[in-house]
Amino acid sequence: MQSYRYILFICFFTAGLFSQQEKFNIYAGVERCQVCHETPEMGNQHGVWKDTKHAKAYETLLTEESALIVQEKGYSTPAYETPECLSCHVTGYNNPDAIFAENFTIQNGVQCESCHGAGESYRKEIIMCDREVSIVNGLILPKPDDCLTCHNEKSPRYKPFDYEVYYKKMEHHKNPEYKCETEEDEDEDW
Ligand code: HEC
Ligand code: HEC
Ligand code: HEC
Ligand code: HEC
Repeated sequence: MQSYRYILFICFFTAGLFSQQEKFNIYAGVERCQVCHETPEMGNQHGVWKDTKHAKAYETLLTEESALIVQEKGYSTPAYETPECLSCHVTGYNNPDAIFAENFTIQNGVQCESCHGAGESYRKEIIMCDREVSIVNGLILPKPDDCLTCHNEKSPRYKPFDYEVYYKKMEHHKNPEYKCETEEDEDEDW
């Protein structure tokens, strides 16, 4: 059993290393994360996100206020087509190497992968259940400074950013009771 897990780990580890170039930047889209992360057993991180302004960041670019901002800045494109605005209000925009999965849509705003990294390679349960393997496959557990890539003075509506205060408004926890079942299943199957 131990050796099985060890071999599995090595497989995913090396697969992660070798696929770095092609696979790391594929954005799966929030709906792919939702499948698992909306159940109460998992802690419903999707439900929490959906109620934050991050989920509505693209919609904001459709408002009258946004139209005024781009006008003041002298852009001839609407806010929702202006690269400067999109760079912070949607996911993966300012990443030149980004690849987007078929159902990915920028309409979903600042999605999970804006903070946790492009997820096509780590979203499988057997990978997700092991933090180290997930990280090798591209998962990011963001630090306070990562927020500053968007929460900074280049934002035309910048408000001073206090991590403690801001993080509280979007805090999403794991369910401490949740146990990944892959290991137990393996015990039965093997
Ligand atoms: C097939 C189901 C599944 C999908 C799809 C999935 N996850 Fe997970 N994820 C899990 C499981 C299971 C865990 C471990 C949960 C636990 O230990 O409480 C996890 C853990 C995580 C963690 C915490 C890691 C840690 O070590 O603290 C993050 C962050 C995460 N997922 C983000 C995402 C993102 C972003 C997506 C979409 C790109 C995604 N997940 C898609 C099942 C999934
Ligand atoms: C990809 C860019 C991006 C990143 C990274 C990002 N944010 Fe944001 N955030 C935004 C945008 C854009 C808005 C405004 C959305 C709107 O109202 O349309 C916002 C709004 C918020 C709000 C709502 C503020 C209010 O006025 O109520 C909170 C809270 C927040 N972010 C917290 C965070 C934290 C904490 C982090 C880091 C863990 C973070 N954000 C990382 C782009 C980002
Ligand atoms: C550097 C990243 C960044 C850029 C560039 C940016 N925004 Fe934002 N925007 C944010 C963040 C972060 C917030 C959340 C405000 C806060 O709490 O600081 C925000 C908030 C807003 C709001 C207020 C939304 C609300 O909930 O009240 C509007 C409107 C807006 N942005 C429009 C635009 C437009 C239009 C552009 C393009 C000209 C733009 N933004 C460019 C990051 C950015
Ligand atoms: C604005 C940035 C941001 C967005 C968007 C975001 N997260 Fe997170 N997430 C964080 C931060 C910051 C943490 C805390 C990391 C830590 O504690 O080291 C976190 C932690 C987590 C954890 C682990 C929680 C725990 O208790 O350890 C999971 C699971 C997770 N996120 C899943 C998701 C999923 C799924 C989505 C989309 C539905 C999402 N996140 C969207 C920033 C974000």
